[in-house]
Amino acid sequence: MPVVSAPGKIILLGEHAVVFGKPAIAMGIDMRLTCKVAEGRSNMVNGQPLSDRYHSYIAVAIRDHWDGGPLNVTVDSEIPTGSGLGSSAALSVALLGAMSAMRGGIDEEGVARAAFDVESKVQGRASPLDTSVSCHGHGVYIDSIEGEGLLWHIERDVRQWYVHHCQVPDLTFVIGFTGVRAPTGPLVAKVKRYVDRTRFAMEVVDEIGTITEEGARRLRDRDVVALGGLMTRDHNLLTILGVSSPELQRLVDAALPYSYGAKLTGAGGGGSMIALTDRPEKVVEAIQRRGGTPYVVRTGVDGVRVEGD
Ligand code: PMV
Repeated sequence: MPVVSAPGKIILLGEHAVVFGKPAIAMGIDMRLTCKVAEGRSNMVNGQPLSDRYHSYIAVAIRDHWDGGPLNVTVDSEIPTGSGLGSSAALSVALLGAMSAMRGGIDEEGVARAAFDVESKVQGRASPLDTSVSCHGHGVYIDSIEGEGLLWHIERDVRQWYVHHCQVPDLTFVIGFTGVRAPTGPLVAKVKRYVDRTRFAMEVVDEIGTITEEGARRLRDRDVVALGGLMTRDHNLLTILGVSSPELQRLVDAALPYSYGAKLTGAGGGGSMIALTDRPEKVVEAIQRRGGTPYVVRTGVDGVRVEGD
């Protein structure tokens, strides 16, 4: 009866541009989702019969990636859902990790591939960033070309991604959730229309790519001042692409006086922002004053792991 956990994530740099083949950096955070799995008489989730509608990730994971008997799944999560912090990816990863543990041991790459397959089928999502980082923990650097520290190469349809390990120091971030739930698909489509129509938008995407490459170097050197500056520049470029929102901008503005840098994280349009800071209490207060929900998180965490049997 394995108990397996997986972390939520933040995207440090490169969201949206990654859809056009540019690099992106995501990092695991110390908010985890835990899945306990046991053999049962029928498929159950938290004491309820498995429903394709309400448990879509679990249903697809069992249907397409499990060949044993019925499973009794218990899920317990510290990751708020719908806030862009990777709760659905952590669910797929922890459950598939538990299935892998039942077959003898967690195969990190196998779990990452299966979890991306589940997310693609349920959401039709654009990249394996969330599932890869939840699986690997620490940080991942995803790119359309192969570089140092390759973890795995994932292909789907005509697209492909090289997922690399990215060393992440123990840093403090404050997340500010706007309370607005914005689905990723329409935001990705909006940026695509803009990029297809104008050269200018493609140049903005290129610049985000350059910022992300520099960010990976600064992260390695633990240069928080430079990293913060890059985050804020990235936020401004994402705003030009049309994926910020008044709520996100309010929280970014509130955090900036006490932070090295701040930006929206994930698809935008709502969801969450992140601030890199050494004064988390100040940022928490500022975010609360502007109506956001703050979470103080640390990076440099493990990926999918067995908690016990
Ligand atoms: O909102 P999230 O955390 O699912 O992130 C979306 C990130 C995008 O780059 C906009 C899309 C993607 O899948 O990479």
